[in-house]
Amino acid sequence: MKTLRLSASGEDIARAAELIRGGELVAFPTETVYGLGARGDREDAVRKIFAAKGRPSDNPLILHIASFGALLPLCSRVPPAARTLADAFWPGPLTMVLPRSERVPGAVSAGLPTVAVRFPAHRAARQLIAAAGVPIAAPSANLSGSPSPTEARRVLADMDGRIAAVIDGGSCEVGVESTVITLCDDIPRVLRPGGITVPMLREVLGEVRVDPAVTAPLAPGQTASSPGMKYRHYAPKADVIAVRGSAERFARYVNARAGEGVMALCFTGEEQNLAVPVILFGERGDPRQQARRLFEALREADDKGCRTLYVACPREDGLGLAVVNRLMRAAGFHEEEA
Ligand code: TXA
Ligand code: MG
Repeated sequence: MKTLRLSASGEDIARAAELIRGGELVAFPTETVYGLGARGDREDAVRKIFAAKGRPSDNPLILHIASFGALLPLCSRVPPAARTLADAFWPGPLTMVLPRSERVPGAVSAGLPTVAVRFPAHRAARQLIAAAGVPIAAPSANLSGSPSPTEARRVLADMDGRIAAVIDGGSCEVGVESTVITLCDDIPRVLRPGGITVPMLREVLGEVRVDPAVTAPLAPGQTASSPGMKYRHYAPKADVIAVRGSAERFARYVNARAGEGVMALCFTGEEQNLAVPVILFGERGDPRQQARRLFEALREADDKGCRTLYVACPREDGLGLAVVNRLMRAAGFHEEEA
């Protein structure tokens, strides 16, 4: 299959929407990462996503909508918290897990009684969904297990020839995937941290839990609240090791391990004492920059032939929780104290 390169112009978005309506796969930019879209109301179209990504069929997809009203037919019940969250954070990088209605194809929710829904903020994404006239099911547009793409060329590196088209909308602003929160229990619970942070959620909802799997690996035999938690994720070809400590201790730790294929992902402004090739992560105190850089930096490491990547581990507050969550999964939870 020849993959069309489209722009985010009105004409190209109309063309992409036609492809979606025809049951084809189109990758498109969102404010978080690029999504791999198919019409979310048709089982056969949704199945193509799993095939193109090599995604396990028990890992459910997010339905993307372009108005709050479009949520109603997808859910059997809309709890008051859903309206509160939508008023505060939609459109934006927040996904809500709700009890699903019978209209949602089984392949979307992977057999679960729930459905994940998001109203993205990116202009091209909203226009595409509106023009398609149906919810768009979309995971991140990477091969299953690889870092999520935040640029169109990274989508093509994984998906060229496997999908009908990609819309190039430049770099994604947030850089890590949306926050996923379930409203199916008594107390709202964050299943995946992202651009809408836990303090932001608590400010509008009051009590909010954070699923233990956000910060720690699942114990053997433990069931994942979100099936995505149990798979290896975001991993480049290089071995990733998260290293905690000051700039001086990080440099000393990494320099002692210098050698063929060894590189460091370090905070901007802290590179001067490192004796190995360096990729910059953004400033230590700036989780927004780090979120925007992380996935691209992991792919750059592979481009440069990196075999072992030591990553300076950020703080876990606010958006930092999302950055560390992705980093720990990329590292298979391999963490060292410098
Ligand atoms: O920012 C994002 O959310 C991006 C863009 C494209 O919108 N999409 C994305 O999709 O990250 P994906 O498929 O890579 O991640 C969806 C996550 C997975 O961890 C999945 O297990 C979880 O959401 N999920 C989906 N439906 C669920 C459900 N019904 N219950 C619990 N978790 C669910
Ligand atoms: Mg993904």
